[in-house]
Order: sequence, then C-alpha cells, then structure tokens
Amino acid sequence: MELEKKLAEGKNNVVYQSGDMAVKVFKEKYPKADVLSEALITAQIEDIGLNIPKIKEVSVIDGKWAIAMDYIPGKTIEQLMKENPDKKEEYMEMLVDLQIEMHSKTCPILKKLKDKLYSRINGLDVIDDAKKYELLTRLDGAPKHKKLCHGDFTPQNVIISDNDGKPYIIDWNHATIGNASADIARSYLWLSLYMPEMADKYMEMFCKKTKTDKVYVQKWLPVVAAARLYNNIPEEQGLIMKWIDVVEYE
Ligand SMILES: Nc1ncnc2c1ncn2[C@@H]1O[C@H](COP(=O)(O)OP(=O)(O)OP(=O)(O)O)[C@@H](O)[C@H]1O
Ligand SMILES: [Mg+2]
Repeated sequence: MELEKKLAEGKNNVVYQSGDMAVKVFKEKYPKADVLSEALITAQIEDIGLNIPKIKEVSVIDGKWAIAMDYIPGKTIEQLMKENPDKKEEYMEMLVDLQIEMHSKTCPILKKLKDKLYSRINGLDVIDDAKKYELLTRLDGAPKHKKLCHGDFTPQNVIISDNDGKPYIIDWNHATIGNASADIARSYLWLSLYMPEMADKYMEMFCKKTKTDKVYVQKWLPVVAAARLYNNIPEEQGLIMKWIDVVEYE
C-alpha cells in the first residue's frame, strides 16, 4: 500500500491518503488492542445509517498497526470555521444537527458510556478520594440511556465531503451508548478549551432544538471533565480542575 500524502499528524498516529483510502498509521508504542478496538467499533457503526468512512483493512505497515478506511475528500469543520469565520454559526448548527441525528441511533453491542466514565474516573490519582466518591456517586445516579455517543464529537472530527457536500463523522475510537447530554457535555468541554466563544452557543442550540433543560447537560460537566483527565494533557489541567469543582447546578 503506497502512502501517498500525509493528511494529518496527531499524538498517537499519522493519517495518510492512499488512493481512495485514508490510512491511520499508529505510533509503534500505541497498544494493539486499542487499534483493533477502534477498527471494531467503527465497523459496528458502519451500517446504522450515518455517513462515516467504512473500514477497508487493518494491517501492519513497517511494523506499525494501521487502519485503512474510505478517504473522505474535503475539509474538517474546524478547518472550514477557520477559513470562513463569518460562517462559523452555520457550521455550528450543522454540527449540532448531526450530533442530534447521531443520538437518534443506537448500537447495543457497544460499551456503555457510564461504565467507561466510571473506570476512567476510578483510575485517576490526581483527584482525592472524597472528590472521586462524589463524582462516581453522581455518575451512578444518572439515568441509563442507550443513545449512540461519539465521545469526541468536535469540529475536528467531522469532514464535509467535496463529493456530496455532506458531513462525515470520523474518529470513532471513543464511541459508546449512553446519555446524549453527557456526549454534549463532552463536546462543550472541548469547545471551552479550544473554541471558547462557541461553547455556550453550542450547548444552547442543542438544548433549544431538543427541548433539553440546560441543567441536564451541566450536571454531566464535572464527571465528563474528570474523565478527560485520563488523557493527561498538561495544558488542559487547570480548566478541567475548575469544571470538576463546579458547584451543584440547580
Ligand atoms: N477517512 C478520512 N478521510 C479523510 N481524512 C481523514 C480521514 N480520517 C482522518 N482524516 C484526517 O486525519 C485527521 C485525524 O484523524 P482522526 O480524527 O481519526 O485521528 P486523531 O484525532 O488523531 O485520533 P485520536 O483522537 O484517536 O488520537 C482528521 O482530522 C482528518 O483531517
Ligand atoms: Mg480526531
């Protein structure tokens, strides 16, 4: 397989174009199980009626695990927002609508969001036991939903295709089934960190369109923020700690 063009480089992988495929090549130390899990999760979601790149191949290229999938020609919403700042709100609405559409789906075979959040928070050593207990109790009391949640639904993970003009959701590594409000809280957190001017508008637009009380989303913020600490990104720590300590929303 010829890796023709580098499309993006992240902490754990480099994505190349190879003909009509995009090939995500993982760094050598990235766990094999995580690569196979990402491919499996994506494959499980392929046929539920969302626009996503389908998995074509999982292989080892020069000693590194790689996932080959459909190449979606186009730009991510993050790129488009940067290039067309006057259209930011339009793109934001497209994202909100897409996230709502995704939440209308389910995929019972996937892990439960609550279980994933529980194990991430339980394993943290940067928060004290009392705080951990409070967060886990809050998580335990949350209603059990079965909506498809992306887990990292951000402007970086949606590509508008040059072929059909439609948005395609990528990067399904963290997909689970659970509460839409938790998935929105996770998007809100990312926006607060990297596009702060969009964060409140995003949450408000979602709440308005779905007639969700904002409190339902806000209640998830401390839990979702704590789970994000698992990623161990030093620049994020300060803001995340603030979200964890946020007082009860009423
Ligand atoms: N199927 C695809 N078609 C076209 N471009 C893609 C495709 N998949 C990924 N890309 C490009 O590569 C970038 C990174 O891909 P992706 O979001 O899957 O990885 P990542 O964010 O580094 O992953 P992770 O969050 O799991 O570390 C995307 O933002 C996009 O620019
Ligand atoms: Mg990504």
